[in-house]
Amino acid sequence: MKPKVYIETFGCQMNVADTERAATGLRRSGYELCDSEAQADVVLLNTCSVRERAEHKVYTRIGEVKAARPNDRNLIVGVMGCVAQLEGGELFKQLPSIDIVIGTRATDRLPALIERARDGERKVIDLGERDDQDHGWDVSPVERHSPHVAFIPIIEGCNKFCSFCIVPYSRGRERSRTPSEIIAEIQRLQSLGYREVHLIGQNVNSYRPRVETGLEGFAGATPFCRLLRAVAATGMPRIKFTTSFPRDFHPDIVAAIEENENLCDWIHLPVQSGSDRILKLMRRGHTRDEYLKRIEHIKNSRRRLALTSDIIVGFPGETDQDFNDTLALIRECEYDGLYIFKYSRRSGTPAASLAETVSESEMKARFNELEAVQREAQRKIYAGYVGRTLSVLAERGSTRSASDLVGHSTCHKVVNFPGDDAVEGDIVNVIVTEAKTNSLYGMLVNRSSVA
Ligand code: 5AD
Ligand code: SF4
Repeated sequence: MKPKVYIETFGCQMNVADTERAATGLRRSGYELCDSEAQADVVLLNTCSVRERAEHKVYTRIGEVKAARPNDRNLIVGVMGCVAQLEGGELFKQLPSIDIVIGTRATDRLPALIERARDGERKVIDLGERDDQDHGWDVSPVERHSPHVAFIPIIEGCNKFCSFCIVPYSRGRERSRTPSEIIAEIQRLQSLGYREVHLIGQNVNSYRPRVETGLEGFAGATPFCRLLRAVAATGMPRIKFTTSFPRDFHPDIVAAIEENENLCDWIHLPVQSGSDRILKLMRRGHTRDEYLKRIEHIKNSRRRLALTSDIIVGFPGETDQDFNDTLALIRECEYDGLYIFKYSRRSGTPAASLAETVSESEMKARFNELEAVQREAQRKIYAGYVGRTLSVLAERGSTRSASDLVGHSTCHKVVNFPGDDAVEGDIVNVIVTEAKTNSLYGMLVNRSSVA
């Protein structure tokens, strides 16, 4: 019998993509993947360390996994992802029951690492770099998180070193994938029936491959703009990309979206704060005005582009005035969605040495106030969709109602509508009948012939 591996994924889309990639390699090496830890011979946790709460989950989960099988001496437990990369060998001290620590660039070597642990080696660890940057990206369709939507990493790592952020340390420097490889992967996915791809990376618009093979014949102000046009030319019905970094957000990205219907009408452009003073302390590399200029450009596009952002409240030194600047910016930008985070001190980052001046209760109050302002802005935006017809990819059955399907619009809104399995995987037109806080409800108009 083949040994069974269960991988549990925390955190961002990059971790989801890494899990898919790890699963592909493991299956190729003779392992079976399973969906529950109870049947598994090997349990791997793919971890996130962006905030303290995310990191804590690893410790809780390891405890639970071990507690469920206290006498199982053959069970192998491994920690992969950002916590593994950051903590390294220290993890064996904090979690003596784990067997393997796998860094963020060691995923492709997982089969050999597990083999070593199965052979009885203790404390197996690999925090090394990728063997070959240009290979090992392929993901088998059975391992993808959805049969209709695929995540495609185009750039890994981060060179920005925002002062609060652990990512440059957990994921290393920016490394871009070769365009020809990305394009070939999308063509393959298209022939398999995928309807939507998300080009993913910590900063997709900082994309800078070593060679530009595959981009010949595509114009654009930056390699990312050329990649967008090249990917659009594959004819994949829907293409989304996330996350964009404000400083590198060239207006030509908007032009590329205007020129290509299949480049979706949604941009995620995190601002983090509306105060110049805090932006500077955060080392974001952009001012409030510079950010707002980019927003203006996006808002002036011929297509209405949905806009979402991230905010951190309670960064060290954030005063009432700084927070009010953030509130004002949020009102001005009229985001379609906002992810608000309470500042979480990450040891090893430059901000960790700053005195934390905002109390937990003040942080919570700011969080709530911001959320209320956003909810109101969002209510208006969402209400504006009632009566409009959206193109929706029917991704899966709704967990709330057996007769409903759920999917996303091109502008990345969650849309629920009555429909049966036969429609799943199709791009359909849905007329919106009701707006909720974070989703829309509607009725199927007809089968669209978008693809
Ligand atoms: N504390 C709180 N939020 C953080 N983020 C990143 N690092 C931290 C931190 N130390 C948020 C940022 C980023 C998002 C992915 O997570 O808003 O854009
Ligand atoms: Fe973190 Fe800043 Fe890099 Fe985003 S751009 S991953 S916030 S360091």
